[in-house]
Amino acid sequence: VFEHIQQAPEDPILGVTVAFNKDPSPMKVNLGVGAYRTEEGKPLVLNVVRQAEERLLADRTQNKEYQPITGVAQFNKLSAQLILGANSVAIKENRVTTVQALSGTGALRVGAEFLAKHYGKPVIYVPVPTWGNHNKIFPLGGVPVKPYHYYDPKTRGLDYQGMIDDLRAAPVGAVVLLHACAHNPTGVDPTEEQWEGIRKVIRSKQQLPFFDCAYQGFASGSLDTDAHAVRSFVADGGECLIAQSYAKNMGLYGERIGALSIVCRSAAVASRVDSQLKLVIRPMYSSPPAHGALIAASILGDRDLFADWTVELKAMADRIISMRHQLYDTLKARGTPGDWTHILKQIGMFTFTGLNPEQVQFMTREYHIYMTLDGRISMAGLSTKTIPHLADAINATVLG
Ligand code: LMR
Repeated sequence: VFEHIQQAPEDPILGVTVAFNKDPSPMKVNLGVGAYRTEEGKPLVLNVVRQAEERLLADRTQNKEYQPITGVAQFNKLSAQLILGANSVAIKENRVTTVQALSGTGALRVGAEFLAKHYGKPVIYVPVPTWGNHNKIFPLGGVPVKPYHYYDPKTRGLDYQGMIDDLRAAPVGAVVLLHACAHNPTGVDPTEEQWEGIRKVIRSKQQLPFFDCAYQGFASGSLDTDAHAVRSFVADGGECLIAQSYAKNMGLYGERIGALSIVCRSAAVASRVDSQLKLVIRPMYSSPPAHGALIAASILGDRDLFADWTVELKAMADRIISMRHQLYDTLKARGTPGDWTHILKQIGMFTFTGLNPEQVQFMTREYHIYMTLDGRISMAGLSTKTIPHLADAINATVLG
């Protein structure tokens, strides 16, 4: 009965790691998936995560019972505070409902299914380009995707006017997906002033913002600064959805830990929304796993661990920024043709190099450098040792 099944293609991002793992070359470098690596090219488990785990292990009152459908209550409360701010009026007024989710992807999917069932205008506008999984999560969750202009290949920056024009032309009430900070894959974010312009258009058209917040703390190194866009939309009193992930900022990739918050106009509505989110989650996976939520809640809820976390987070963000400078300087020193200032200007984990698929394939074939076909490189995968090799590869492919 399964004879007719065709071989599916590998995932455009995670498939890069599959190909990387098969390559026996000692010079290979994986700049595909957005996962932080140390200067030695190793995955990093944060010290605060180790400490939180030790505390959990020592606590004999912990058991392995089911969590509630919406997850660990303390984790949900602290996650909402992290993104909205400890003094958030919306939280004080009990207008925010938060559920634990299977990282950012799970939060987006639960949000999509909730909107498909309860929101009158289930269509979502996403930036071009966007994280590839957005284009799959939303339609499969019952919300068709439409594009809006975002990245301008000519300037390698934001096509602000194109974005504003598209949002103005989008229907009243449409859902708009916004990357809260450190846009993936381009590393191009609106300025604070541009965010204000975007907010005004979205609110004037009663559109519904859905923030994907996977990099809080990774863009600027400051958790509060990176929450600016989301907080400005919540401060105006309107509704929004927020998907949070702790994969990058706590290095909890495999724990699949994140949250979905829905900011409503009243406490009564938030409570009803919460009851409906349970009906989305229960038939999907019943209730979420506890471990990642307990780690994150220990860090978020303990003053010392939280302070240590911000230091470790800043160190990761700073190493990435230093990689930007080193790569830029090395390309300059090689005399590589082209303007590479976008490497310095773009922020967060990724640089959108502007290299085309043929150039990417050349670099993989000849230099064993693995990256996504859209020309995105994960700066977090680079080190002082591997930068000269990457610069050689870029130089060779640009010179053709
Ligand atoms: C990425 O874009 O590389 C990350 O968000 C990991 C993923 O799941 O795609």
